[in-house]
Amino acid sequence: MSKIAVLGGGGWAIALAVLLDDNKHDVTIWSALEKEVQALTNDRENKNSLPGIIIPDTIKITGDIDSAVKDADMIVMAVASSFVRKTSALLKGKIKDNQVIVNVAKGIEDGTLYTMTDIIEEELPGCNACVLSGPSHAEEVGRKIPTTVVIGAKDLETAKYIQETVSNNYFRAYVSPDIIGIELGGSLKNVIALAAGAADGLGFGDNTKAALITRGIKEISALGIAMGGHARTFSGLSGIGDLIVTCASMHSRNRRAGILIGQGKSLEEAVEEVHMVVEGAVSAKAALALAKKYNVELPIIEQVNEVLFEGKPAKDAVMELMNRQYTSEHVDMLWK
Ligand SMILES: NC(=O)c1ccc[n+]([C@@H]2O[C@H](COP(=O)([O-])OP(=O)(O)OC[C@H]3O[C@@H](n4cnc5c(N)ncnc54)[C@H](O)[C@@H]3O)[C@@H](O)[C@H]2O)c1
Repeated sequence: MSKIAVLGGGGWAIALAVLLDDNKHDVTIWSALEKEVQALTNDRENKNSLPGIIIPDTIKITGDIDSAVKDADMIVMAVASSFVRKTSALLKGKIKDNQVIVNVAKGIEDGTLYTMTDIIEEELPGCNACVLSGPSHAEEVGRKIPTTVVIGAKDLETAKYIQETVSNNYFRAYVSPDIIGIELGGSLKNVIALAAGAADGLGFGDNTKAALITRGIKEISALGIAMGGHARTFSGLSGIGDLIVTCASMHSRNRRAGILIGQGKSLEEAVEEVHMVVEGAVSAKAALALAKKYNVELPIIEQVNEVLFEGKPAKDAVMELMNRQYTSEHVDMLWK
């Protein structure tokens, strides 16, 4: 049995806490938001983010980060990506060498262009920061629906420890050394999900969705490989796997925001209506800056940026993508 602190009180934090409690670990949920701590304590449920999933009495809920992380073997970073830096900063001076931090937030930081484990390591130098990612909606994990994820860690021993801690008969974790590839797949799929949603909002069909998914993973892998990720990671769970689930499901807030944008709403209106952080919008800007830095062409992500931040109608963006100069599907695949 491990002692585990789950930081965050949203849908993913609750689903993971319940999973870890199912696996007989000693779990504490911590949130920085007093109202959230109150509501979770009173209702034993997050009625907004994950209604119907009851938090068992064996799970402790607290607003005191010191008691949550003290002697924890594993700390799960499950806050929204824009709060990972602030939350990591709260952990300064509290983390010991033997504690593992598992990031599950998905995003790239505006300005620094850091991934979430980059941020954690900058705030907590020398810590053991890992990542868990893949096609895993909280709504489904909470209902114990068979799910697979991948864990990225710096060493096999840590990866295996996390794998054994989280896995059970409805949650199967694989391991990988490719932290950067896993994190980029998880962050950039949200940008493509905005495009896929917009295509749905415009009334396009399955062909368009499949085009965005397959050409989208091409962009994600081009940037990811340039940044040091392994090519095969992008055809795995945290790459194409997460992209498929995010582009196809109504559980995805990024896709839902995209649908509204495709129907003619602005980003601000869509965010207001979805009523949740739309991480893909932050990651879209960051991806474009990374593309410049690494000299990689990202046509879909470029168009998403123009639609989100320059008021370009989604339909014009699709037309521009369709009318780009004709090219090979794989430019490095040549005729003999
Ligand atoms: N929901 C899912 O199905 C799912 C699945 C895989 C990964 N993720 C990723 O996990 C992360 C959390 O997802 P979620 O759906 O639970 O997100 P969420 O938007 O519900 O927020 C999570 C939590 O972040 C914390 N938070 C919000 N505002 C804060 C503030 N001002 N200060 C400090 N903390 C604050 C709160 O505890 C909140 O409950 C995201 O990065 C998401 O991309 C989510």
